[in-house]
Amino acid sequence: MLRKDVNDLLTRTGPDTAMGDLFRQYWMPALLAEELPENDCPPVRVKLMSERLVAFRDSEGRYGLIDEFCAHRGVSLWFGRNEEGGLRCPYHGWKYDYTGQCIEVPSEPEESGFCSKIKLKNYPLIKVGDILWTHMGDPENRPPKPEWEFATVPPEQTFTSKRWQECNWLQAMEGGIDSSHVSWLHSGALVSDPLFKGARGNKYNQGDKRPFFEVVEADGGLFIGARRNAEDGKYYWRITPWVMPSFTMIPPRGDHPVHGHFWVPIDDENCWAWSFDYHPVRALSRDERKAMQDGYGVHVKYTPGSYRPLANKDNDYLMDRAAQRRGETYSGVEGIAMQDASLQESMGPIVDRTKENLVSTDNGIIMARHRLRKAVVALRDKGETPPGVDPAHHKVRSASVVLPPDQAFVDACKEDLTVRPGVKQSSV
Ligand code: FES
Ligand SMILES: [Fe+2]
Repeated sequence: MLRKDVNDLLTRTGPDTAMGDLFRQYWMPALLAEELPENDCPPVRVKLMSERLVAFRDSEGRYGLIDEFCAHRGVSLWFGRNEEGGLRCPYHGWKYDYTGQCIEVPSEPEESGFCSKIKLKNYPLIKVGDILWTHMGDPENRPPKPEWEFATVPPEQTFTSKRWQECNWLQAMEGGIDSSHVSWLHSGALVSDPLFKGARGNKYNQGDKRPFFEVVEADGGLFIGARRNAEDGKYYWRITPWVMPSFTMIPPRGDHPVHGHFWVPIDDENCWAWSFDYHPVRALSRDERKAMQDGYGVHVKYTPGSYRPLANKDNDYLMDRAAQRRGETYSGVEGIAMQDASLQESMGPIVDRTKENLVSTDNGIIMARHRLRKAVVALRDKGETPPGVDPAHHKVRSASVVLPPDQAFVDACKEDLTVRPGVKQSSV
């Protein structure tokens, strides 16, 4: 369990909060590149860490991420006209460029220079892979570009989606480092999901529902090893890297593409679950890409015209008790992503961690909270740059391996847990 003040410390990410300052050290996913597909396309509302912003792409293809509200009298610039090198407020015509600088106030004489004194808050927006990333912290302290493998392999090897999740980022992220629920909640999907089924490792997942956890510190966060029994006294290890603050990778299965997540706070009661799938050495097949687009694996089907899942809390996640009885799904909810999200949302917008009762399979979660807390305090009190900011920390992989009983995963898998260009993932 956590004391209330620690729970508040880790879950609040608005401006002027300690965890908010921590998140603002990193390049974080802000939009899918497909949301701003061409120059002068419609602007997009973006809410991140409780700040309301608007993103647009100007006539020269420059990306802007600026305060959502016009400096004149506060109209939302989502209504803005994106034309001729800037975003023009439709109320009285004030116009802003991609840096948030006001470049026209039509009612004032040009020689007054009035507009040069008006500038909206702005953050950078850069494209790496399928994602537009932003850094909302001090520009003097801006880290080099992100180097996550999924975002830097050739485009035909990778796929990214995002979905709105209606709960705090931390309880969503904690689901990503909790390998023990897989044998229960996702047991149906291990048999049926086209992006999961058929791997040899699945039978170890299904055969041993009492994993032993071993967690070791890494430069950027943790490696969380879950050990299950394999044949001949050997062990099946699933190793999940967690890089601060909210990046995780799911251990691979067979030759399936490798999946993972980023959880990015929208505000304290909502987050974006970014979900990626990539193969380090080959293009995704047509069937794989189609399955991802159709919402299999870690992806979802959407409510048309939005990034809200089709199964959501307003329709009880399309709960199907008959499918549950037939053994097709363990919880009655279809799809791995919504199996996770439905339960995490059911905990309430911010789960009360003073009431939980943790057990040994929660060791990864306990250590991640500890690491986060340590980093938040070190940043607040001493200005220390947290783990995960350095792009060298991005070069991690998940792995699933079978090891003899006397081998520690951290020694045996050093290379498997590091990005090796041109070498495929270690997976059974
Ligand atoms: S409110 Fe935007 S121009 Fe007046
Ligand atoms: Fe899950």
